[in-house]
This record gives sequence, C-alpha cells and structure tokens, in this order.
Amino acid sequence: MNFKRVVAEQLEELVEIESRSRLVPREALSTGKSALSAPNVLAVLGVRRCGKSVFSHMLAKGYNFGYINFDDERLFDVKTKDLDDLLQALYDLHGKIDFIILDEIQKVLGWELFANRLRRTKRVIVTGSNSKLLGREIATELRGRYEDILMLPFSFREYLRYRDISFTPTSIRTAARGSIVAAFDDYIRHGGFPEVVMARNEAERRKLLQNYFKTIFFAIREAPEGQRAARQQTHHRELSPLSPGSIFCHRKREVLFLPPPQDHESEKDLPDRYRFCRAGAPFCGKPGEDT
Ligand SMILES: Nc1ncnc2c1ncn2[C@@H]1O[C@H](COP(=O)(O)OP(=O)(O)OP(=O)(O)O)[C@@H](O)[C@H]1O
Ligand SMILES: [Mg+2]
Repeated sequence: MNFKRVVAEQLEELVEIESRSRLVPREALSTGKSALSAPNVLAVLGVRRCGKSVFSHMLAKGYNFGYINFDDERLFDVKTKDLDDLLQALYDLHGKIDFIILDEIQKVLGWELFANRLRRTKRVIVTGSNSKLLGREIATELRGRYEDILMLPFSFREYLRYRDISFTPTSIRTAARGSIVAAFDDYIRHGGFPEVVMARNEAERRKLLQNYFKTIFFAIREAPEGQRAARQQTHHRELSPLSPGSIFCHRKREVLFLPPPQDHESEKDLPDRYRFCRAGAPFCGKPGEDT
C-alpha cells in the first residue's frame, strides 16, 4: 500500500471539500484551542456529518500538520503495527510535523498507545462518532492526558452566521426580528447539519436528511439497546418513532418545552452512536450539553 499517496489524497480531498463550502467558524473553536494548549490528546467527538473533520482542520491551521483519515477503505486493514509506516508517510510528505489529526482512529484497535507516544512531541487530535472515544471509555494509557469535546451540528447562532443574519440582544427588538423568527422556523424544521443548511433546495435537504437518518438511526435501532429505546419512544408519539417527521416534531417540542430527560433516554441506552441531542444545546451553542 502506498501510504504516502493515500494521505496526500486525503488531505487534498479535505481541502477540496472546504473550498466548496463557505466555512462558518465554529463556536467550539476557543474551547478546542485551550484544550490543545495542554499536552493532552484532544478527542473531537460527535454525531456523523456534524463537522468534526472540518473543525479539526480549523484547529490545525497555522501548524505544520499531518492528517490521516481512517474512514477510508484503503486503510480498513490497518493494524497498530502499520501506524508507524503511516506516520513515516506523513513525514515524507510534510517533513517535520508538530500537529497530527487522526480522523476516525477508533477503527484501529490499540490506537491509544500510538496517540500517547505522539502526544509527547506533537499536538494530537483524534476524531470519531463512537462513544468508545469518550474519556470515560478510554484506555488507561491516556487517562489524565485526554480531553474530549462534543461537536454538534450548527447552533442557531452559527446558523444565523451562515445566513448573514445579525443577532444581538437588541436586534430581536428591531425590524430584524422578522428574519430571525423566520430563520428559527427553518432551523427547527431542518436542523443544523452543515450540509443540510447549505443544500440548494428542499429536495436536496430531504435527501441528505434521509441519508443521515439511515446511517445514524437505523444503526441505533439495530443495537439491542436502541430497540428498547425505540419501543419506549413509540409511547410518546403518534408518528413512526424513527421517521424524520417524528424526530423533527420531537425536536421542536424539546426546543419549545425542554422537558427533563426521561429515564429511557440515558446515554447508556445507546452506547455506540450518538443519537439526536436535546435541541436546547445546539440552540445555546454550548458544546458538551447533550442529553
Ligand atoms: N464549519 C463549517 N462551515 C461550513 N460547512 C461545514 C462546516 N463544517 C462542516 N461543513 C460541511 O459539512 C460536511 C461534513 O463535515 P465533516 O466532514 O467535517 O463532518 P464529520 O463530522 O467529520 O463527518 P463524518 O462523521 O462523516 O466523518 C463538510 O463536507 C462540509 O461541507
Ligand atoms: Mg469526518
């Protein structure tokens, strides 16, 4: 396997994706930057497609950094013994690096030792949408040297920023109020996933949401814990509990009424994936406040 070519293409792809989007600076950037100032591994976690890779890349700007994305079929067979070869490929490509992003690293069993070694000489970011990367699940080698940050889809504030709508405590009392309220309605309807926010029309938005839904929620439903949670959720709504319409209705209710979390909603019910978050958190833009 020509690792050098793979990592070069992966970086090219990331830069290409970013050049196609108008990038919104994420509110979690300052938290991420201060977490990186310690000699710890920073784990950027969150639901699929919420912007983890782009966010990690934003944090790396200004550094001579290397990027490896393990969510790539060419790297599916990579084992811990291959990680040094991948690192060498980054050195061959960039020379000395002082920052490394290991995207979706949880796919490599025993990655923690590798990250722990790198952490001594570089800033290290690992990303993933799997709860096995949460601090409490992490192997002992990294305990106390590991911080995690939870990414969410765009908060309402980030969403307004993307749409160039100014939002200040006073603007809500001015003529701008109408556009803020209309934007809020759209936000509640479609959510804050960056690609959905940027979609050109309703059909595209719907297609993306259906795809996310299949990737995220069907995977949850297949897990025994997810089946239990889905059964319990059926009692709460007339619509099919896992239809996009139902999720959005549920989400809207959460924004409007913010009910306390139910017992069956605890995170332990859904150990391997992130499910949808209480909308109060993205609305307030405070990473880390999931259900
Ligand atoms: N800050 C941002 N501003 C504008 N667009 C963004 C931003 N972050 C992400 N996007 C858009 O959303 C898409 C998904 O972002 P990204 O690949 O970073 O998500 P992810 O959480 O890493 O996804 P996955 O779980 O598939 O790895 C990107 O292709 C980009 O188009
Ligand atoms: Mg990613």
